[in-house]
Amino acid sequence: MRSLLDKQQAGDKQQAEKKLVGEKAAELVEDGMIVGLGTGSTAFFMIRRLAERVRDGLRITGVATSRRTHEMAASLGIRVVDVNDVDSIDLTIDGADEIDDRLNAIKGGGGALLREKLVASISKRVVLIIDSTKRVDRLGRFPLPVEIVPFAWKHTLKKLEREGYRAQIREKDGALFVTDGGNYIIDLHDLYKIEDPRKLEASINNLPGVVENGLFTGLVTDMLIAENGRRSPNRHDGPQTGGTVRHLQRRIPRHAANELLGHRHRAIPERWFRS
Ligand code: 5RP
Repeated sequence: MRSLLDKQQAGDKQQAEKKLVGEKAAELVEDGMIVGLGTGSTAFFMIRRLAERVRDGLRITGVATSRRTHEMAASLGIRVVDVNDVDSIDLTIDGADEIDDRLNAIKGGGGALLREKLVASISKRVVLIIDSTKRVDRLGRFPLPVEIVPFAWKHTLKKLEREGYRAQIREKDGALFVTDGGNYIIDLHDLYKIEDPRKLEASINNLPGVVENGLFTGLVTDMLIAENGRRSPNRHDGPQTGGTVRHLQRRIPRHAANELLGHRHRAIPERWFRS
C-alpha cells in the first residue's frame, strides 16, 4: 500500500505538472483569436496565465465550456462571449481525464463534458493539456461519464446496466449531481481497455435518455503532456522547479482524418502524428 507521504508527493508532482502544462498552453494563443476555454484544474492554470497576457495587451475573445470557467475567466478580465455569438473557434484548450496516443480522450470528470464537446466540435484546433498520469495505452481505467436527461433517469441507468456496464449515478454533497445543462451524469466503471472508442461513443449515445458521453474521438488535434513535474517550494502555486512539456500533434487536417476514420473504420496511423 502506498504511504501517505508517497501519495502526497504524487499529488504535488501532479499539481506541478498541471501548472507547467497549463501555463505553457496559454502561450499557444495569438492576438485576435477566439479561444475555447476548458474546465478543470489544469485549464485553470491556463486561463490564469492567459489573463496575465490579456493584462499585458493580448486581445482575445473567450468562449467558456462551463459556468464556472465563464465566471473565473470574466473575473480575471478575459472577454467572454456566448458560444452562439461566434461562427467558429480558432483554438480550444482543455484538460482531460485520460488520453491515448491517437488523441482519443475521456473527459467529463468535472461534469462539463457536453459543453466541452460542443465547443470542441466547432473549434479549428483542440489542444488537450494533461499531467503525466493521464496518458494511457488504452482508454477505460477512468470511469466514463455519460450525461443523461433527468426524466426517467432510473430507467436509463437500468438500460446501461442491461448493456453490461457497471453504471453509477453521480452524486455531490448528498444530492444528485446536476450539470450546467440541467442534466444528470452516470459514470460507467471498470471499462478497462476500450477496444474501439469511436464505436463505443456512438453506441452509448444511441440509447434513449443519453445526451452525450465523455469519449472524444476524432476531435482532438494536439496533446500537450507535462512530464517529471517537481514540487515547488510553496506547493502547487509556487515557482516551477522542473519538468518538461511534450507536444503531440495530428499532422493531417482533422476533417481529413475524420473522413478516413468514418469511411474506412480504421485507426489513424502513428505517422500522422509528430511529437
Ligand atoms: C471537466 C473535464 C476536465 O477537463 C477533466 O476532468 C480534467 O480535469 P483536471 O484538469 O482538473 O484534472 O473534462 O469536465
